[in-house]
Amino acid sequence: MSTGGARPIVTVQQHILEHQRQFPHASGEFSWLLSGITLATKIIAAQVQRAGIVDVLGATGEVNVQGEVVQKLDTLANETIHRCLGYRGNVGIVVSEEDDEPRVIHEAGDKGKYIVLFDPLDGSSNIDVNVSIGTIFSILRVRDDVPRSEVINQVLQPGLEQLAAGYVVYGSSVVMAYTTGAGVHMFTLDPSIGAFVLTREYVTMPLKGKTYSINEAYWHTFPKGIQGFLEWAKSEEAGGYSLRYVGSLVADFHRTLLKGGVFLYPPTRKDPKGKLRLLYEANPMAMLAEQAGGMATDGTRRILEKPPQALHERTPLILGSRSEVEKVLSFWKP
Ligand code: AHG
Ligand code: MN
Ligand code: MN
Repeated sequence: MSTGGARPIVTVQQHILEHQRQFPHASGEFSWLLSGITLATKIIAAQVQRAGIVDVLGATGEVNVQGEVVQKLDTLANETIHRCLGYRGNVGIVVSEEDDEPRVIHEAGDKGKYIVLFDPLDGSSNIDVNVSIGTIFSILRVRDDVPRSEVINQVLQPGLEQLAAGYVVYGSSVVMAYTTGAGVHMFTLDPSIGAFVLTREYVTMPLKGKTYSINEAYWHTFPKGIQGFLEWAKSEEAGGYSLRYVGSLVADFHRTLLKGGVFLYPPTRKDPKGKLRLLYEANPMAMLAEQAGGMATDGTRRILEKPPQALHERTPLILGSRSEVEKVLSFWKP
């Protein structure tokens, strides 16, 4: 029966299963793991959209391992993802920005062949003012060359080892973007059916954009090369860039992925190694950026090649369109 040209409804799980011959690491098990993430983010989205009605606004009064005040939604998102992933049966270790240490899922035993790392709620400073926030995830395979008991050595893998990476942005619509190494694909949550449905396949980042995204309040503590790039971006010669900065990495990256341009979080006096965390912010975004034809660097090397030294290690992050990232690097030689 003809569908009369109506767009077919393809869910995330269906997309993985239909395309699994292309996805190097997809399998029934993998789509089962991904469905744990989509379930968790649907629950978080529902809480975000009812913030103020349900008691999820404001701070908990605690300070996390990052030294940041924990927002109620940080905790709720963290617990939701743990609950949804902990019983998938194939997740062995879970790493979260909100947890001091990795959590081993003992119930999974040797079947726990995946490691999931996540930033449960990115852009926490924007929760109470109804600005887009998100969830970021990265998926690694449990290494067979390291004992399972050496948990830290299991999780400290460079970004090139990621099997998959993605984010969900809780904005005017709820959009999931993910890659398993075979292009970037986007799904929009259809609240009327409670499912993420395919809206864009093989998303590519424009080679050149019109925006740069940075918190210029730290201008005086940026490296001179970064100041040089920013002066260039404001000059006539550059041809009219606009500054766009949401303060949520997921929202700033989502715009950069679709429209091009460059996002920068360089070293500052407050965060001399940069503010963003390598394992569950920079690495997943770097995999998505490269899969979409963009670049991601710390100023010295590809983000994906950096060998992590610590669980919550921070890194400078310059990511976006090839043209703009190369322009930044032409000014900034760390
Ligand atoms: P998180 O809320 O997970 O701690 O992440 C916040 C990060 C990132 O989302 C954003 O790009 C950056 O903090 C903004 O930092 P500034 O407020 O220093 O600009
Ligand atoms: Mn974050
Ligand atoms: Mn966070």
